[in-house]
Amino acid sequence: DPSFEAALKNAVRTIPDYPKPGIMFRDITTLLGDAGAFRRAVDALVHPYVGGKVDKIAGIEARGFILGGAVAHQLSAGFVPIRKKGKLPHRTVSVAYALEYGTDEIEMHADALVAGEKVVLVDDLVATGGTAEAAVKLLRGLGAEIVAACFIIDLPELGGAERLRAMDVEVRTLISYE
Ligand code: PRP
Ligand code: HPA
Repeated sequence: DPSFEAALKNAVRTIPDYPKPGIMFRDITTLLGDAGAFRRAVDALVHPYVGGKVDKIAGIEARGFILGGAVAHQLSAGFVPIRKKGKLPHRTVSVAYALEYGTDEIEMHADALVAGEKVVLVDDLVATGGTAEAAVKLLRGLGAEIVAACFIIDLPELGGAERLRAMDVEVRTLISYE
């Protein structure tokens, strides 16, 4: 629906040259602060799963926590935080992933899921897909069945959605910026 997409795009703010020259940063804080846009985005993310069986929503720190918490509540699903290394207190599993310079690592609690649970992965935006790919590896490593990975924003030029589809993950995004 083009008017739905236009309304969501209108609620996202673009900051040129953040965090460095040449990057057009898509800032969702304005969307989160707009009650109608926030509700429409969350409703669209949950829509395919209403009345179905999703056990857990996994959200990626930090913006995936805000969206994933709302999505989990709406589906009466549990919420599993996937965090940057060193933040979780109990026994964790971790996966390293490449950044532009160097590597980073994300973690989740090893007992956050039971093998066979149906999980939807949620984040605000997919760029290179490196973060989400690492999250998929973590979840699958614990035996989760990944129902889909859902994002508000796709940056298709960076290939992240395709990278996830190549791992047999269903990818859903609401809007995209070339
Ligand atoms: C952003 C975004 C995604 C990730 C996408 O998070 O919220 O999690 O980058 O990039 P990728 O597809 O190239 O991996 P960021 O690492 O800035 O962390 P933050 O939410 O904690 O600020
Ligand atoms: N916005 C927010 N997070 C991001 C972006 C962006 O444009 N690119 C990579 N991560």
